[in-house]
Amino acid sequence: METETLDIKITKTAKSRVHDQDVNNVPFGKVFSDHMFVAEFENGKWSKAYIEPYREIPMSYALAALHYGQAIFEGMKAYKDVNGHVSLFRPQNNFHRLNKSAIRMAMPEVPEELFFGALTELLKLDSEWVPTGDTGSLYIRPFMISTDEAIGVRPSDTYKFIVISCPAGKYYSEPVRVLIEHNYIRAVHGGVGFVKAAGNYGRSLYPTKLAMEKGFQQVIWTDAETHTFVEESGTMNLMFLIGDTIITPALSDTILDGITRNSVLAVAKDWGYKIEERKISIAEIVEAHKKGTLNEAFGTGTAATIAHISAIGLDDVVMELPSVEKRAFSPKVDEYLRNLRKGIENDKFGWMYKIC
Ligand code: COI
Repeated sequence: METETLDIKITKTAKSRVHDQDVNNVPFGKVFSDHMFVAEFENGKWSKAYIEPYREIPMSYALAALHYGQAIFEGMKAYKDVNGHVSLFRPQNNFHRLNKSAIRMAMPEVPEELFFGALTELLKLDSEWVPTGDTGSLYIRPFMISTDEAIGVRPSDTYKFIVISCPAGKYYSEPVRVLIEHNYIRAVHGGVGFVKAAGNYGRSLYPTKLAMEKGFQQVIWTDAETHTFVEESGTMNLMFLIGDTIITPALSDTILDGITRNSVLAVAKDWGYKIEERKISIAEIVEAHKKGTLNEAFGTGTAATIAHISAIGLDDVVMELPSVEKRAFSPKVDEYLRNLRKGIENDKFGWMYKIC
């Protein structure tokens, strides 16, 4: 595939909408910033790149993405530090994961200059949309869809790579109650569980709806073969503090290589915690709860950052966990990452990518 550098044509909005609301106080994922980036792929190469005022997509009802699910995305965040500088958190990781998803879904890879050019130009234009509050960020959604107007199962010849963004506060305002799911599955070996394919999320909605009807906010997915090992929780990676060891399911082709997961493990290691990345069975969690050593459970994800788990349901049994105030690790790492992103904590890992 040709990867020559593309100029990004910029059309600015005639009137910014940024002051129509308080960007520090908007619901997650509902209000979109002034501009969006679009790149078009045709004839085997990325041929056009432009930034325009945010708008709807004009599209055919036969759009391939709608029928065959060639749709992938990323989730990333920009932060405004205490000095007003805007930075992205570990965008290289998002870039690599996007292209991993693209390869698995038979879609074209996005060149590095295009990905970073898009983010840099967009953030320069929409820097006022980046919240300043303690827990605020600009959630950025790069995504790619197949755009052939054709019915027929085959990879599309044309694609759009698009970046939109929305100011975001906390994804979960309270600790979450999660139900272990051992009927429906999220991912199978050989499938697409390790990439951010839109279909992974669509298939999760019905089991999650059933869990919600039982008083839970999310499910804990189990392995497809035996339903005895835990994998992820909802849209997040999963971690447990059992005794003084942090245990998380090892990465595999059924588990997303979460950037927050990776960051939390790096910080924990730096702080001297024992870490085990391995299979973790439901039986082990039940046993630890019985013994009183299940000190913490939490999800990690870009949107959620750290989502404390207050209770784990297993069939008719509910295992209540210690309150967040009593937890030694997850509130501390949450605060550490927040401070790092706000420039209060020294960026010793070199994770912040300065934009403007
Ligand atoms: C993310 O954490 O960024 C996701 O993609 C999942 C979704 C909850 C927004």
